Amino acid sequence: MKNHEMTDRRSFLKVAGATAVAGTIAALTLNGAEQNEKPIKIIGVSCSPRKGMTTAKAVQIALDAAKTVSPRIQTELIDLGGLKISGYSPQPIQDDFNQILPKLQDPLLGGLIIGSPSYFRGMSSLCKAFIERCAPLREPKMVLANKPVGVVAVGAFRNGGQELTIEQIHVSMLCFGMIPVGGNTPAFQGATVVSTKDSIDSDELGIDTAKKLGIHVAEIAIKLSASI
Ligand SMILES: Cc1cc2nc3c(=O)[nH]c(=O)nc-3n(C[C@H](O)[C@H](O)[C@H](O)COP(=O)(O)O)c2cc1C
Repeated sequence: MKNHEMTDRRSFLKVAGATAVAGTIAALTLNGAEQNEKPIKIIGVSCSPRKGMTTAKAVQIALDAAKTVSPRIQTELIDLGGLKISGYSPQPIQDDFNQILPKLQDPLLGGLIIGSPSYFRGMSSLCKAFIERCAPLREPKMVLANKPVGVVAVGAFRNGGQELTIEQIHVSMLCFGMIPVGGNTPAFQGATVVSTKDSIDSDELGIDTAKKLGIHVAEIAIKLSASI
């Protein structure tokens, strides 16, 4: 090999090597960026039998606030009002829950916001039925584990059992390995909303708690997604 040919070969290898390294770095950076830009879904579930009423509205407020945290946050409201969802049965059940299950199995799901009216100071039977039917999300894999869950409770009175309702739902969701979260002051336990004549518009405090809950669920979902 002549001298100039050897030089050309060396500089080719140098350039090729540098390009390969640059390519690898670019690929790593791209993968990192792709990962950081992965959407995170927050699903809100309204468990009032009355479709589109105050519980659904309060959950939507929490979801809208969640979206303000990052462009990565995507939200969806599932309103169980009017749907037929029975509680657990050892026999296979054909009802509306079967359309909802795949949404909860979405690998992009980053967190849940569950809303329930306060019925006799506890969760609605629809909410309980929904949670019982979520049993397939525990086996063979705990698909909801280590994801945040926040709760919105709506009652007709200021002290109508909203906090007890939130507590019941938090405790149930612990069985799924979920991480119960509230919001910042004064929404420590979650969203506590008062409905007056089927409207929550005048409940500034309650609306504030719904927003703070949504924001915190989104913040925690983003933090936890970084560790997956
Ligand atoms: C069976 C039943 C029990 C209720 N119990 C309570 C209660 O314990 N505390 C309360 O503040 N409101 C109670 N309410 C009122 C509902 O929580 C309130 O109307 C709520 O806004 C309903 O949610 P929705 O508008 O999404 O249907 C009760 C309503 C019903 C139908």
